[in-house]
Amino acid sequence: MNIPPFAHERLEVRHDESTNLTAIIAVHSTRLGPAAGGCRRWRYADVSEAITDALRLSEGMTLKNALAGLPFGGGKSVILADDNARPTAEQLAVFARWLNELNGEYVTAEDVGMGVAEMRSMAATSPFVSGLGADGIGGDPSPKTAYGVFIGLKTAVQFALGVEHLHGVRVGVQGLGAVGMSLCHWLARAGAEIIATDINPARIAEAGERYGVRGVAPDELLEAEMDVLAPCALGGVIDDEVASKLAVRVIAGAANNQLLDARAGEILAERGIVYAPDFVINAGGVISVAHEYLLQRGQFADAVDHSVERWVGERIDAIAHRLLDVLQQANASGASTDAVARRRAREIVAAGRVDPARAA
Ligand code: NAI
Repeated sequence: MNIPPFAHERLEVRHDESTNLTAIIAVHSTRLGPAAGGCRRWRYADVSEAITDALRLSEGMTLKNALAGLPFGGGKSVILADDNARPTAEQLAVFARWLNELNGEYVTAEDVGMGVAEMRSMAATSPFVSGLGADGIGGDPSPKTAYGVFIGLKTAVQFALGVEHLHGVRVGVQGLGAVGMSLCHWLARAGAEIIATDINPARIAEAGERYGVRGVAPDELLEAEMDVLAPCALGGVIDDEVASKLAVRVIAGAANNQLLDARAGEILAERGIVYAPDFVINAGGVISVAHEYLLQRGQFADAVDHSVERWVGERIDAIAHRLLDVLQQANASGASTDAVARRRAREIVAAGRVDPARAA
């Protein structure tokens, strides 16, 4: 198939003087539907760093949504912060008005630094917001993301180590935030031996108490003896050097854009390390957010069962066979798992429609 170039459709760089809000909205693709992807609030060094992040993350959302069979394209927004405080109600209202100006081309939800409270606040001004958790449906996507990552991690371990369980498998979790902590819950239940780190010592202490996790300092984790690394902090942790040195059999985690570049993925493949591409296994949250958004807008008019358990559950469980396909194809072709998964996603986008059996 002749796949067209994969450029972004829209990039908005906006500033509001009265509330001192600066934000970037990147729409990568609307070919499969509205561009869906969270809003991140982060302390960027400058606007150009924020733009780069939004461009990379929005492309990742196109890949993630396409592979998950969702009727959504890919987008992402970032708000520039100069502190750890939450955004003000006035700033959220301004951002929500910007969403309205895009008229549904971009749909937002939670990401790092933005939670359910911020989404509810924006929803008072804009309908193009999901992750609200109204009537107990949807809401915080993190637990769903963690469960999907757990399914992916188990699949990758089975592929690499030939074991169907995680009992005694040593997993290193980098980042004990919303997703990392919830992943520890599933790993502990499955009998894995967990080593973990966070830049916030209180999170390490909590994981120790709740899940018997052995805490290490942030700069010690990559050197620790472990079978699996689960990056659950920020992106770019696997550069060429880390890929060349890391002594693990599997990498499977939640963080977006774990590979700094394509070469890092090739090095992992050459070294026989099984890398579960982030955009394949961390789709649980966006699946939940997509379901909530479609329900909210009355887009399930037929009689099919669109309950959370069915619609969301089946799609998250499908991460296992989707990842297995990628791992097998990569193994057979010698290409990196990252390259194989990107190509598959681009084929789905180029075809211009999601698999009808998997769509709404
Ligand atoms: P979070 O902000 O709740 O947690 C991130 C944690 O990582 C924090 O506890 C932070 O202290 C820690 N951290 C930051 N830098 C670190 C470092 N250098 N070493 C060790 N720990 C460090 O974020 P959340 O929601 O848990 O997301 C984690 C990752 O997963 C992010 O990359 C996010 O983009 C990605 N992701 C999250 C989804 C979700 O549903 N929340 C969905 C898909 C991807």
